[in-house]
Amino acid sequence: MVNTMTPEQIELVQNSFAKVRPAAKDVSSLFYKRLFHVAPQVRPMFPENMDEQGKKLMAVLGTAVQSLTNLPALVPVLEKLAIGHLEYGVEEAHYDVVGEVLLWTLEQGLGDDFTPEVRDAWIETYTIVAQTMCGAAYAKAA
Ligand code: HEM
Repeated sequence: MVNTMTPEQIELVQNSFAKVRPAAKDVSSLFYKRLFHVAPQVRPMFPENMDEQGKKLMAVLGTAVQSLTNLPALVPVLEKLAIGHLEYGVEEAHYDVVGEVLLWTLEQGLGDDFTPEVRDAWIETYTIVAQTMCGAAYAKAA
């Protein structure tokens, strides 16, 4: 996996994530509320109580954001995660929905700090993460 991000973009992602991190609980509950609103068909894949889920999502996002300067270390983590997601019934198209919802959530959390540059840097980040995961999980079906 080649990192196409500039050092400036990596810094934008790391700094903006640090801003929403203290509100991780609210941010993740907003994320899932939006996800289940725009894609109600994925709700049954998740447990009824989503408290733990939100913590896990933020933890992995935090790891990914920190590892942008060291992607080779992140790849096996994401590959394993993606294979696990096959068992939940997650399909490749769901990654696009989750990406959209993530950007929307960051926009809510960051307000004016969600500048076009920050948005672009997050798009790059999510694309790297999703491509790595989908490459591992769906390569054979493609
Ligand atoms: C950047 C992409 C994603 C990341 C970082 C991520 C992260 C995680 C993490 C850390 C877990 C905890 C359990 C585990 O380790 O497997 C998890 C579970 C799960 N994820 Fe994801 N995920 C991503 C994309 C998706 C997508 C696209 C879907 C589709 C709707 C999805 C649906 C689920 C479901 C259903 C569970 C299991 C919930 C449970 O039974 O506890 N995830 N995810």
